[in-house]
Amino acid sequence: MSLPTVLITGASSGIGTVYAERFARRGHDLVLVARDKGRLDALAERLRHATGVAIDVLPADLTQRSDLAIVESRLRDDARIGILVNNAGIAQSGGFTEQSADSIEQLLTLNTIALTRLAAAVAPRLANAGEGAIINIGSVVGLAPEFGMSVYGASKAFVLFLSQGLSVELTPKGVYVQAVLPATTRTEIWERAGIDINTLTDVMDVGELVDAALVGFDRRETVTIPPLHVAERWDTLDASRQGLLSDIRQAQAAERYRPAQ
Ligand SMILES: NC(=O)c1ccc[n+]([C@@H]2O[C@H](COP(=O)([O-])OP(=O)(O)OC[C@H]3O[C@@H](n4cnc5c(N)ncnc54)[C@H](OP(=O)(O)O)[C@@H]3O)[C@@H](O)[C@H]2O)c1
Repeated sequence: MSLPTVLITGASSGIGTVYAERFARRGHDLVLVARDKGRLDALAERLRHATGVAIDVLPADLTQRSDLAIVESRLRDDARIGILVNNAGIAQSGGFTEQSADSIEQLLTLNTIALTRLAAAVAPRLANAGEGAIINIGSVVGLAPEFGMSVYGASKAFVLFLSQGLSVELTPKGVYVQAVLPATTRTEIWERAGIDINTLTDVMDVGELVDAALVGFDRRETVTIPPLHVAERWDTLDASRQGLLSDIRQAQAAERYRPAQ
């Protein structure tokens, strides 16, 4: 049986390029999506030569509705595509009061709207087939309002929540959903956001990040946090959150919120 084709967004650099390399080496055909057609063509050529897999290049600016629609159609209609790697994303420098409304919208459009629409395009077909996978690239920043990247972090908290929710909905239908939460990783994202990577500490190599994420993928983890050495910390956090679930569904307001008589 042939392996599913993998569609990877943001494949022209960084984490997306390494996902393309790793899935090609595993024998998967690829569809590569990003804006920079020249870089996608060069990557496709290199990987075809190195691995012999079939690779399509689908240039698209995922913040543009017409381009996004083309990728959505491909995901809806191409039954060979069984894995979506929702990786394209941008960061932003500066604090909230220094960021323009337009740059905030641009970030949210790519990191949340495009990601969700692409998942929505492919999920019904995968659920129908009873198999397939969606990998969403979040970030540890989505767990840490303290890091001072509020909009970026909020977009990544969205990715985590969406992935967990989709996992609840789609796992019973045979579709695996993984959220990957990298910490600082050596890619172009920092330079693109106007941040000097040399000012950052504890930077992970991008190959190490993706290889670790794929270990989590092969284990069918819902949430994979490659830089987290003590796995129990996440388990404790998640168990604590789940502990709230029965408590937050109450018809009466808590005692402490009762208006003074
Ligand atoms: N590097 C880190 O420290 C880090 C940490 C946590 C999470 N992440 C997440 O990892 C993911 C990949 O980032 P990266 O670090 O690999 O950064 P990167 O090297 O800058 O890659 C980002 C990719 O997204 C594509 N992209 C950007 N804007 C796009 C648009 N409007 N339409 C389509 N594609 C677009 C870029 O290609 P084009 O320019 O060709 O369009 C590029 O291929 C992002 O979601 C990021 O938030 C990164």
